[in-house]
Amino acid sequence: MTLATKLTEEEYDIAEPHAPAMIESLRAFGYNIQTAIADLIDNSISAGAKNVWLTFFWDGSESYVSIRDDGKGMTETELINAMRPGSRNPLEEREPDDLGRFGLGLKTASFSQCRRLTVRSRAVGDKPVTRRWDLDYVNQTGEWRLLRSAAPGSEARLAELDEITSGTVVLWECMDRLVGGTKTDDQKAQNRFLEIMEDVEKHLVMVFHRFLERRNQLQIWINGLPIEPWEPFLTKEKATQFLPEENLYIGSERVVVQPYVLPHHSKVDQQTYEKAAGPNGWNAQQGFYIYRNERMLVAGDWLGLGLQRDEHCKLARIQVDLPNSMDSDWSIDVKKSRARPPSSLRADLKRIARLTRGKAADIYRHRGKIIARQSSESYVFPWQKKVKHGKVFYSINQEHPLVKEALNVPKEHRQVIRALLRLIQETVPVQQIWLDSAEHLDQHSQPFEGVLSKEVKEVMIQVYNALIKSGLSPLEARRRLITMEPFQHFEELVASLDE
Ligand SMILES: Nc1ncnc2c1ncn2[C@@H]1O[C@H](COP(=O)(O)OP(=O)(O)OP(=O)(O)O)[C@@H](O)[C@H]1O
Ligand SMILES: [Mg+2]
Repeated sequence: MTLATKLTEEEYDIAEPHAPAMIESLRAFGYNIQTAIADLIDNSISAGAKNVWLTFFWDGSESYVSIRDDGKGMTETELINAMRPGSRNPLEEREPDDLGRFGLGLKTASFSQCRRLTVRSRAVGDKPVTRRWDLDYVNQTGEWRLLRSAAPGSEARLAELDEITSGTVVLWECMDRLVGGTKTDDQKAQNRFLEIMEDVEKHLVMVFHRFLERRNQLQIWINGLPIEPWEPFLTKEKATQFLPEENLYIGSERVVVQPYVLPHHSKVDQQTYEKAAGPNGWNAQQGFYIYRNERMLVAGDWLGLGLQRDEHCKLARIQVDLPNSMDSDWSIDVKKSRARPPSSLRADLKRIARLTRGKAADIYRHRGKIIARQSSESYVFPWQKKVKHGKVFYSINQEHPLVKEALNVPKEHRQVIRALLRLIQETVPVQQIWLDSAEHLDQHSQPFEGVLSKEVKEVMIQVYNALIKSGLSPLEARRRLITMEPFQHFEELVASLDE
């Protein structure tokens, strides 16, 4: 028997929240209209919606916004529960594709923008049902009275729901913070309303881009027009570098990290480059992009890892994918606009950030040449990262042409070389490298840095010869070489091989 059931009534008081004070406080979670609308679209996606229609209707202080979806909708009981602040316990396990957590978003997001929230919903085979929170009414009555109908005159704004078999419409009226006290003919206020609509679009195309990219999954419409996804990583551009993907674990939960270095502006057309900057500009949009169930929470941030936003790192963007089962580890907030890395992952994230920043700085300074993506990775890198029994190690790539060539010798020599390679591989001073790079920010020497060209060429020629032996023509071998780490940095030397 638990402690709770043993206590008698003399031993406690009931301290229920005072409705008017509480409901007003729910307005202050720190949303803006962009994050508020995104929170409602989360609900639509979790309800399986394929379409979300936003309406922004200008009418001075009578302006309204509605968010309608064709998801599975709610029965009357479900709707009443959905309108309840704290409709679900955050500790409850959620379906893997559920975007919710706290049982608050619908209310906190809506109240941040309006004083009157009406929801009409329809589950398959049911009639539409309606419920409304009216903050003024709760204030007057002092009770949590959830109204059973739309406000007089608002019916028409909900009527479209009647035409679909299932779905939900959320209506925001009395939007005091956005349009409070403005007149319909106030041109400035109307322009501002339109600008806000654009801000909302910019936010949504970003946070839901992965859903929007799969057309059959989700389409969002703003006042009748579909919106187009904004993808931060330019993955379709040839000059974008995909650095190796890494899996990080907390227990059995997996975080997938994919770093990208975006192309130098000379490698893409002007329009693509400008669009890729993103809503806040290149500098502000560098760093980690955190996704929870593919929904973006953080759009470019170094996550308090002690790294600055630097102009020369602006091409570094790192995709991080979290499952919703790690919400508390990452301190996800109600607005879904914050995520803090758990301390056990900080060192790895910092290491990946440094690596990506280093590569991005190379490209920024025009030093880095891109390793062509069409050549398979195993062929290009002398080292490979591997995972065995959950542990990471680095192995020498046995498919590398020079390694193959070195092993192409009589058996007794081959055994020696194999043993040597194995020894090198088994004793990579990982700890030391890690400590050194933690101490000396971005100060590791690049391959062949400060070395005479002659020495670089000696190594290069061996690889070149190995390529020729493998059957490539001299021209093909040179082309190949230029795609191989680290010779992409020595284009001129590669060209000089032809003499
Ligand atoms: N558009 C919708 N279609 C169907 N059901 C919905 C919709 N919006 C809300 N709901 C239901 O209402 C519940 C409460 O939504 P609310 O946004 O307040 O909390 P949540 O999504 O559970 O968690 P979070 O606070 O993290 O958003 C949801 O769990 C869902 O069951
Ligand atoms: Mg929600």
